[in-house]
Amino acid sequence: MQFGHFDDAAREYVITRPDTPLPWINYLGNEEYFAIVSNTAGGYSFFRDPRLRRLTRYRYNNVPLDSGGRYLYVRDDDTGDFWSPSWQPTKGDLDEYTCRHGLGYTIIESQRAGIDVETLYFVPLGETLELWRTRVVNQRDTPARLSLFSAVEFCLWDALDDATNFQRNFSVGEVEVEDGVVYHKSEYRERRDHFAYFGCSEAPVGFDTQSDAFLGPYRGWDRPLAVEEGRSRDSIAHGWAPCGSHHLQLELEPGEARELVFVLGYAENPHDAKFDPPGSQTIDKSRVLPILARYREPAEVEAAFVRLRDYWTDLLGGLQATTPNEHVNRMVNVWNQYQCMVTFNLSRSASLFESGIGRGMGFRDSNQDLLGFVHLAPARARERVLDLAATQLPTGGAYHQYQPLTKRGNDAIGSGFNDDPLWLILATGAYVKETGDVSILQEPVPYDNEEGSETPLYEHLQRALQYTLDRLGPHGLPLIGHADWNDCLNLNCFSETPGESFQTTYREGGSAESVFIGGLFVLAADELAAIAERLGDDPEAAAYVAAGELMSGTVRAQGWDGEWFRRAYDNAGEPVGSSANDEGQIFIEPQGLCVMAGVGVDDGLAARALTSVRERLATKHGIVLVQPAYTRYHLELGEITSYPPGYKENAGVFCHTNPWIVIAETLVGNGDAALDYYLRTNPSSREEISELHRCEPYVYAQMIAGADAPTHGEAKNSWLTGTAAWNLVAITQWILGIRPEHDGLRIDPCLPADWDGFTAERDFRGATLHITVHKQPGTRGRVSSLVVDGERIAGNVVPVQPAGSVVEVVAEIEADGAARTDGRVELGGAHQGP
Ligand code: GLC
Ligand code: GLC
Repeated sequence: MQFGHFDDAAREYVITRPDTPLPWINYLGNEEYFAIVSNTAGGYSFFRDPRLRRLTRYRYNNVPLDSGGRYLYVRDDDTGDFWSPSWQPTKGDLDEYTCRHGLGYTIIESQRAGIDVETLYFVPLGETLELWRTRVVNQRDTPARLSLFSAVEFCLWDALDDATNFQRNFSVGEVEVEDGVVYHKSEYRERRDHFAYFGCSEAPVGFDTQSDAFLGPYRGWDRPLAVEEGRSRDSIAHGWAPCGSHHLQLELEPGEARELVFVLGYAENPHDAKFDPPGSQTIDKSRVLPILARYREPAEVEAAFVRLRDYWTDLLGGLQATTPNEHVNRMVNVWNQYQCMVTFNLSRSASLFESGIGRGMGFRDSNQDLLGFVHLAPARARERVLDLAATQLPTGGAYHQYQPLTKRGNDAIGSGFNDDPLWLILATGAYVKETGDVSILQEPVPYDNEEGSETPLYEHLQRALQYTLDRLGPHGLPLIGHADWNDCLNLNCFSETPGESFQTTYREGGSAESVFIGGLFVLAADELAAIAERLGDDPEAAAYVAAGELMSGTVRAQGWDGEWFRRAYDNAGEPVGSSANDEGQIFIEPQGLCVMAGVGVDDGLAARALTSVRERLATKHGIVLVQPAYTRYHLELGEITSYPPGYKENAGVFCHTNPWIVIAETLVGNGDAALDYYLRTNPSSREEISELHRCEPYVYAQMIAGADAPTHGEAKNSWLTGTAAWNLVAITQWILGIRPEHDGLRIDPCLPADWDGFTAERDFRGATLHITVHKQPGTRGRVSSLVVDGERIAGNVVPVQPAGSVVEVVAEIEADGAARTDGRVELGGAHQGP
């Protein structure tokens, strides 16, 4: 069952009923001002940091979800009938409803009783505000007298404080209302230099700024008294719960349309020029008034919207593919890239599953997000790499998280997640391979943001690698520390106290080791060797190659279980993820990472490991993380065993890991299996089972409940997940095989047998490449010839082309007589779609 459909040409997902299984959200904003907007206009807005600069209030942890938003109410002043054109919060019947989520904008349109209301929400580029452009059309054959009420609830800035510190909050709320514009200025009288404002292009006949005056006693946002009676209270908030509401009156002839624009914005004043007149307590509004005036002009609003659309057309134009599979096409060309932008911007901070309070920017998360983002906005990627490196510690270790507003490492969660530093090498490598910008490696970057501690970025990467080498355990494998990629495999934790943090509780001197970090180290060592070579540092390059080989040998010798790679050794030296265990015998992560690092690709271990994945972990809804699921709490394993079987790290389909297996399958030459796995978690290909999947069909979710769960196939934690970046990498760089390398763009597809090839457009270092790949359907094989602008070249790397040039690239895939015949090929058509 579906709740809408893709409009591929418009690059929109069109939701056709408001009661989606979960709120289906979109994000507004690309730079500093961000907003979450659901298909019923729920969500909130913030400037840079969803905790410290949250503009509007949102109530997480509610059933049903999604209360609080940017709401409108329409009232028929002749009959007293009123409703929300976005369905929530009144939830009244609508005769028509569509929500179009596009790239950086959302349009909600509905009709009731012959009144059509369409609102476009977006954040103009370069601004710290959002616009709501509302068009009201009277489709009746009689005149309509209408009231329109707007409503937002203001947050008291620090979202944690807003949700907890009522003894203070209920007394500090302050607003000003001037010329119909509501200014929210709680705490502005003291140390804040910023405020929010909410204006409308038309003069309101009334307003409210105190929630309970607008709502009336003991009422909710579903039936505010002011709306019911058609009369604002002109309330001024002193403490309690400041809100912003305008009351507009419209008289519309039959067929007449009216357009209004609401502006909700964030503004900052210089600290010593906050007040006007100086010495008063009144906000100096001189910076805001011109902005409000600008967006009173419909042409300005339209122009800003066109700029936003052009911006996205331009961004996405650098990577487009036309393949035989529509789910591949729409995810690659639109939604997967879009999600990569959102994860780059927000890391894991604000979604319907991330409260915007707890986690800042994750170190490993943000590094991995870059893998799917560098091609979109290299300059921003560069800045992010340097920001991340600046939180690195002198030991080469890393803070696990940092705050986006201050860019400083987060002490509360601290350091000691021993995989963290290695991801910086992969992210930097991806940046340099995409851009060719080796200068970044010489950028001076401090450690722990300490002035004076700067070294070139290159040395940060060297220290990151050394960090692992300085922390090897009894089997010669890397020590895991608090955890590796799997935050829930806490092998040195031993927590018996309810509520204690699995991530920070740590038995000092813990000797648990990670095979996963071993694989990651091999990958990172190769990446750093290539970087060193690029810098002409051959001795270092050779040393990294040697270190990688040594680790690869250790992984093979100590990490191989017979049919798959083990996961780890616990603090007592017992294997984890081994046939010797009664639960948790095989984990997905080392099968993915070790094979990606090339461990066992030549001697058959990799292929064997992937067969084990297929036999033991693959389900029709994706590949689960571990089998058999843990049925009881294991003190020596930590949080992973705290989840019920089938959820999250305990045998859920933790989607982030699935593209690793996709990539691994291409490395052993199995394009059929690779695409098959890719499609199992591709949200578009799951659209038809939306009532089971529940999350948005246009973005990846972190987790799909595994086969051990009663709700097998149900997704959770959509949007902010490394799944986005890794899937884009898997499909574009490994299945389609268009892969940036230091010397050029490699064209190395590994396609399913039934494809006849594909075409793609790829911007690379300033040139535009039109790529055509030919293949006989029914065959398998790799590229046998590459023609660049009519000239056959040796190998399959397109050398760097002059900036500005447009280059035709034609690749032929020759049928490979030696295509796998070991029984794995029949997977081709076997996508056991749900
Ligand atoms: C979450 C975290 C990520 C971690 C993963 C597995 O997605 O954000 O850092 O690797 O869970 O535990
Ligand atoms: C929990 C989650 C895991 C996440 C971690 C972040 O452990 O299960 O996915 O990475 O929290 O702190």
